[in-house]
Amino acid sequence: MARSITVTTPQSEYDIIIDAGWIDAQKINEIIQNRKYLIVTDENVYSHYGDLLKSFECLVLPVGEGTKSLKYFEKVIDLLQDKQFNRSSVLIAFGGGVIGDLTGYVAASYMRGIHFVQIPTTLLAMVDSSVGGKVAINHTSAKNLIGAFYQPEAVYMDVNFLKTLTQKVLSDGMAEVIKYGLGFDPKLFSKLEALNLDKLSSPEHQEAVLDIVETCCRIKAQIVHEDERDVAVRQLLNLGHTIGHAIEQFYQYKKYTHGQAIAIGMVVKSRIAFFEKRIDQQAIERIEKLFEQYHLPLELEEPKMFSTLLEAIHLDKKSTGAHIKWICVDAIGKCRIEGVQFEEIAQKIKNMNRECDL
Ligand SMILES: NC(=O)c1ccc[n+]([C@@H]2O[C@H](COP(=O)([O-])OP(=O)(O)OC[C@H]3O[C@@H](n4cnc5c(N)ncnc54)[C@H](O)[C@@H]3O)[C@@H](O)[C@H]2O)c1
Ligand SMILES: [Zn+2]
Repeated sequence: MARSITVTTPQSEYDIIIDAGWIDAQKINEIIQNRKYLIVTDENVYSHYGDLLKSFECLVLPVGEGTKSLKYFEKVIDLLQDKQFNRSSVLIAFGGGVIGDLTGYVAASYMRGIHFVQIPTTLLAMVDSSVGGKVAINHTSAKNLIGAFYQPEAVYMDVNFLKTLTQKVLSDGMAEVIKYGLGFDPKLFSKLEALNLDKLSSPEHQEAVLDIVETCCRIKAQIVHEDERDVAVRQLLNLGHTIGHAIEQFYQYKKYTHGQAIAIGMVVKSRIAFFEKRIDQQAIERIEKLFEQYHLPLELEEPKMFSTLLEAIHLDKKSTGAHIKWICVDAIGKCRIEGVQFEEIAQKIKNMNRECDL
């Protein structure tokens, strides 16, 4: 049976439907409902799902973060204008977070907003980027600088699409899944302990995968319901991300993927929690084992770089104000927001480094 979650925000209400092996040409036709439409996807996704998509009007864009740019934003807008799209037309994002974010931002902008449907095909897109209405493109100076809050009319997830992901992309998405377990749901955390990357892709664990995707979406839907605009509780979803973003930026998005970087960030948070005696030895061991189980790193390859990296965060924060919303781990399945000064963070990490030999 398909699982369904309703996302409610002040301006909209829509369903996320999750199942396995259910998105076929007939389903896509039902989604389109005789409207003028365009499916936006990337070359890689098209190479796997061309058979499904070939009878539809598709815009197939290059793979990668570079596609979330003003250049491709304009390209999609040009096409919509050529095809005389109007407010009753619909854009369908069929792909990972890159395609979802770009398509969503076009949908939010073209004629001040047209219909938009998400069909996420990566794990990260299913549990994170397709839910909650943050859509954006990058500017040469910063990621996601140009964006909007724009909710889709529906999100359709088929976990069978996950079967064609590389282990690296799957593992990357698992970092966000672990974030929900570590920060919000101890039962999810335990469930993840019983699985691994290979099991996620095997047919006998399909129900478990459906449960996991559903649980993550429920957590995110609840948080988005409480704080769509990311001014309060939604910031909890940044667990591991302050450090993660610093790592990504420091290595210019080359050495570590987003999932790897936030995994290191979450391990730092967990080690601080252990050092500050909020979690015990057994808990920190379980946390580190879980990241390893999903092929995610626990620390930087060159741990000594951490102090240089801290310095980089510091310089950055000096220009933007040194007050940071810091998400702390209080227990497996529980996190909390703490407003701290940068200096306190640096001290916490230095103390912990001495103790934990990071
Ligand atoms: N809007 C949000 O709230 C939000 C949240 C988190 C991340 N993001 C954004 O999401 C983006 C990352 O998303 P991502 O990790 O999905 O990356 P992605 O879209 O680049 O996809 C990763 C890779 O997987 C391939 N792929 C996608 N689906 C596939 C499938 N079913 N089979 C085989 N290959 C497939 C893609 O072609 C690509 O090579 C970033 O730009 C990030 O900023 C947005
Ligand atoms: Zn993230």
